[in-house]
Amino acid sequence: MARKNQMIALDVSPLANRKLGKYGLTRAQLNRLAPRVKRIVTRVERERGDGGHRYRELPHDRLMRQAVEEFAKALRPKTQNLVVLGIGGSALGATALHQALNHPQYNLLSRRKRGGPRLFVMDNVDPAHFAGMLDVIKDDLPGTLFNVVTKSGETTECLSQFLVVRNLLTRRLGREEAKRRIVVTTDSHSGTMRAIADREGFASLPVPDGVGGRFSVLSAVGLFPAAMCGIDIKAVLKGAAEMDDMVRSTSLQRNPAALFAAVNYLYYKKGLDLSVMMPYSNALSGLADWFRQLWAESLGKARNESGGKLISVGPTPIRALGTTDQHSQLQLYREGPNNKLITFLEVSRFDKDVPIPKAYKDQPALSYLGGTSMGKLLNTEKQATEQALLASSRPCMTIRFPSVSPHAVGQFIYMLEVATTIAAGLFGVNPYDQPGVELGKKITYHLLGREGYGNINALMHRERHQT
Ligand code: PA5
Repeated sequence: MARKNQMIALDVSPLANRKLGKYGLTRAQLNRLAPRVKRIVTRVERERGDGGHRYRELPHDRLMRQAVEEFAKALRPKTQNLVVLGIGGSALGATALHQALNHPQYNLLSRRKRGGPRLFVMDNVDPAHFAGMLDVIKDDLPGTLFNVVTKSGETTECLSQFLVVRNLLTRRLGREEAKRRIVVTTDSHSGTMRAIADREGFASLPVPDGVGGRFSVLSAVGLFPAAMCGIDIKAVLKGAAEMDDMVRSTSLQRNPAALFAAVNYLYYKKGLDLSVMMPYSNALSGLADWFRQLWAESLGKARNESGGKLISVGPTPIRALGTTDQHSQLQLYREGPNNKLITFLEVSRFDKDVPIPKAYKDQPALSYLGGTSMGKLLNTEKQATEQALLASSRPCMTIRFPSVSPHAVGQFIYMLEVATTIAAGLFGVNPYDQPGVELGKKITYHLLGREGYGNINALMHRERHQT
């Protein structure tokens, strides 16, 4: 049984603040939505029992975790650099776990202090960015492992990265050694990358059936790079499993995922369709980036779930960082259009705090800081920002982390994945597809001369009929 004080908590109490006026949220408004939420949670649990929502089972998949741990244990000692090749849901989870749970300057530490390989996640095909990574690793190719991550096995960006790396490895190390420097994480049965991995004999890890990119961080997709860098993936999954106990509840009071979804939905309906996630923690900002994709790609849809009715819905997720964005975004958030719901992420106890020494007794701008700490200053500024936002009727709430631990991060990931599924129920959309990204892919194929994509007019025509 999870200890309450170890659990992350969603605090929506500021939304009841009187200063919010018509931008506040009353218990009555939440109560009116509660029966719908209850029906959605009940339906999701039923569908889960029938094999749906497969990502929900990942925290309980002991065999998957053990396979990842064993793989990582064998490869870790001989790997100096781990390069993840993938994009979107195949990259953001690895980055989020790394940023949250590894040392903030991980790649700059000595190997002894890091414990694992340096990590590079190549979430793009920007040539300067990619060539920059190659510059760093090219002197130690035998010590570099490339993790090609693609659920579909078809994604242009990932496959082009793979072609570059395979060629480099084969030229420099020969075919046999090149093979040992690549691990493929992909669907176990289908896709071009699966076929290549099987044909060429690359080691591989499966992306479980029914688990799409943005819901895959708790599979080998996110866990293998994490385990390679020494992150306690068992604790991440334990946190997620404990959150699973909470998010099965049909009560809004007891289910933080349902509450998060309901609050976001109600504000969207009030016209506040921008959803800002603002961690007061650099470690958590990768998770806010990960959430940005999860929320946008899952909820932003033209048509309702059955595919019939044109509804064009979806909140726009935005990532900010406290205190940094107090000096960038806050002016807009307080005085610009009142169209944002702000979710702060707050850390109660930082692993390391930095005391601020006393000095300059005669200088009021400095003397009040002496004797406090950076952690205290950061959290005080969060509190101050919240009060300032409420004073100008800007709604905000907080997800509080007891500390940034693998256990808390696992809870957070799972809570927001489930919140996304529930929000999709409220918006009436399918959270697991992304039809809106297909046309751009096809036009790229056309422009680059891929076979079967010669007729651009036919592609456009088909698209017009589908949307
Ligand atoms: O969440 C998603 O489904 C997408 O963002 C994908 O992760 C992304 O497009 C990459 O796809 P794939 O993993 O198939 O290469």
